[in-house]
Amino acid sequence: MTHDLTPSDSLGGAIMSQIEQLATYSELANGLSRRYLSPEHRKANDQVGDWMQSAGMNVRQDEIGNIIGRYEGTSEGLPAVMIGSHLDTVVMAGKYDGMLGVTTGIACVEELNRQGKRLPFAIEIIGFADEEGVRFQSTYLGSRALTGNFDTALLERKDEHGITMAQAMTEFGLDPLRVGDAARQKKDILAYLELHIEQGPVLESENLPVGVVTSIAGANRMLITLEGVAGHAGTVPMGMRQDALAVAAECILAVETVCSEGDNVVGTVGKLTTEPGAVNVIPGDVQFTLDLRAAKDENRIKALEKVSRLMVEAARRRGVKLTLENTHQAVSVPCDDNIMNFIDQAITESGWPVRRLPSGAGHDAAAMAEMVPAGMLFIRCKDGISHSPAEDITIEDALAGARVMFKLLSNLDFSS
Ligand code: HGY
Ligand code: MN
Ligand code: MN
Repeated sequence: MTHDLTPSDSLGGAIMSQIEQLATYSELANGLSRRYLSPEHRKANDQVGDWMQSAGMNVRQDEIGNIIGRYEGTSEGLPAVMIGSHLDTVVMAGKYDGMLGVTTGIACVEELNRQGKRLPFAIEIIGFADEEGVRFQSTYLGSRALTGNFDTALLERKDEHGITMAQAMTEFGLDPLRVGDAARQKKDILAYLELHIEQGPVLESENLPVGVVTSIAGANRMLITLEGVAGHAGTVPMGMRQDALAVAAECILAVETVCSEGDNVVGTVGKLTTEPGAVNVIPGDVQFTLDLRAAKDENRIKALEKVSRLMVEAARRRGVKLTLENTHQAVSVPCDDNIMNFIDQAITESGWPVRRLPSGAGHDAAAMAEMVPAGMLFIRCKDGISHSPAEDITIEDALAGARVMFKLLSNLDFSS
């Protein structure tokens, strides 16, 4: 107990209601979807900023659209421990992916403020602007801008309405030319901590509320474009077709076959569009996405190369033009040993067994680890479901996570 902090029964009491409130900021009437720089993103930033302010923090929005609250330490301007996660969501998302980490961070600062406690480091809570990368086929935009690794070529990326990221930033009130100013100095951040739902079945299967993340899987995302020849469904003989969708079907099965060969590789074709999209017209143009991941980088790269070869061969054989575009790549990232040990200790002191496990999902912690020591605390989620409206946690587990995170703050010691 380095800083002698004891949580009160109030700790975390607002988390679930705050998550319900954030879930109302959606672009959809029948589910949750909140994409980067949308009006709903603006509402979420404003609401989270209000909660941060009420918890005793100074609040600012940075040049990429992250919302950041700062709670000073025993003196002004000390290096900070950063706690955060993302405020954007996938389409038809769950309520907890991202939001649980931000609201738990706010709860911990609110508890410190309630007790009038200050630590030998500042605390910054961050709601990252874009981790899912749904709008611009990117990912980690907020965390990569903060670590100075933002690729300015992405400013020209267009969403499905043809709006560039730069235009969307301007409409949001940001200056795309100043996105570099979001970068922080390594000396100003001692560590990055992220609490996140597991998005998998392990903790629930072992009846554990919390777990310690050991590593974050690497990932590739690609956009595959197929240009065949549209034609009359009734008159073009089968042997004379250049059917783009038939090639896509072969490609999708190739992804499934290659990724099922082992090495803990997973591959997903999540989105596909076909033109002209009429019942009696042979599809001329198809575009689809590929998301391919593995715990080990060499396995991911080997699988990606094999899948790409099979796609090229299928397109050639059917006389269809294939274009493969890499839209995202992240290497597999180990979490920081010291931080993992501090999380182990906080879990043990909270009365739970320690369970370490890898993350198959990507997280901002993977981008933050490029600059500062990063660690993650997992929370059990119902049936391991995520990226779905069925995503769910219990209030007891939310409170357990807040207590472990608070205990972690109490134990963090950077003096050595
Ligand atoms: O896709 C992921 O792994 C994360 O949810 N962005
Ligand atoms: Mn997600
Ligand atoms: Mn997430």
